[in-house]
Amino acid sequence: MMSAHSTAWWMGVFSLCLLMTISMPQMQHIAVIGSGTMGNGIAHTFAQFGFKVALIDIKPGALESALVTISSNLDRQMAKGIVSEDDKVAILDRITPYTRLDEGVRQAELVVEAATESESVKLKLFSDLDGLCSKDTILASNTSSISITKIAAATHRPDKVIGMHFMNPVPVMKLVEVIKGYRTSEHTTSTVIALSERLDKVPVEVNDYPGFVANRILMPMINEAIYAYYEGVADAEAIDTVMKLGMAHPMGPLQLADFIGLDVCLSILRVLHEGFGQPKYAPCPLLVNMVAAGQLGRKSGQGFYKY
Ligand SMILES: NC(=O)c1ccc[n+]([C@@H]2O[C@H](COP(=O)([O-])OP(=O)(O)OC[C@H]3O[C@@H](n4cnc5c(N)ncnc54)[C@H](O)[C@@H]3O)[C@@H](O)[C@H]2O)c1
Repeated sequence: MMSAHSTAWWMGVFSLCLLMTISMPQMQHIAVIGSGTMGNGIAHTFAQFGFKVALIDIKPGALESALVTISSNLDRQMAKGIVSEDDKVAILDRITPYTRLDEGVRQAELVVEAATESESVKLKLFSDLDGLCSKDTILASNTSSISITKIAAATHRPDKVIGMHFMNPVPVMKLVEVIKGYRTSEHTTSTVIALSERLDKVPVEVNDYPGFVANRILMPMINEAIYAYYEGVADAEAIDTVMKLGMAHPMGPLQLADFIGLDVCLSILRVLHEGFGQPKYAPCPLLVNMVAAGQLGRKSGQGFYKY
């Protein structure tokens, strides 16, 4: 039987938890920067789970095609019974497109940056965001490989800067790699972990080293597959079939590279090469040539396969 003393203690704990829940309003407003492959998926997912999303891109055309993509991905989710027709209308209604950063981030409690994988683009964006956002806003980057610590140093709030690395396609893939920069606070980390869980994702916490975990392991495999193709060991379909049927990968490495974007793969490999200083990360010359020729994979219509 519980003593009066322990009952009072438990009631105290219960009231404290209740008070904390009431006094910590849940985040509602998210800004997503960049409406390309990842940005549209991130906006879709936050809106699907009830958040109001400002989707920001410097190119009006990119915003238009993002909304078309989100709508057709919602149709796919409807066909699978994941969302209803009413849900689709409500989800689209929660996404507002912006071309101006200052207007888009005005209400944001969390910003998820998913702009082009370029260090100079991200450093400028985070420095601007630091001046434009409320002092409590968490600034997350979906970067595949650029140092979170370096991005955080472009702001006056390094404790509130974190990596939130979603996987493609975002509405489908469960993982969020949560990257702690050198000065990211525990509070920021736990907030982002809880948010990822609200999106029905599985967050995994990692530290900030080149490529984090996902791309440090994935990109050398993709690069090796490109080398095998370049050296004429086998054609693209044969290489992908070996990895699909032999290693139970759901998609072959060359097709995956096309889906990620060959420009994105190249810039990640360059970060690994520079960050670790080891020749094993040097990008295959064929990848460099394909990117220079504008063959970027699925998004450009041609990569290792035609789309
Ligand atoms: N493609 C993938 O599979 C994948 C997976 C995980 C993470 N990522 C990362 O996500 C980020 C976005 O990649 P993506 O594949 O979606 O690129 P993308 O090229 O498809 O889209 C990038 C978008 O950012 C916009 N943009 C560029 N500068 C901007 C700025 N200053 N303000 C607002 N918008 C700007 C561009 O107009 C473009 O629409 C990158 O950091 C990339 O490394 C990509």
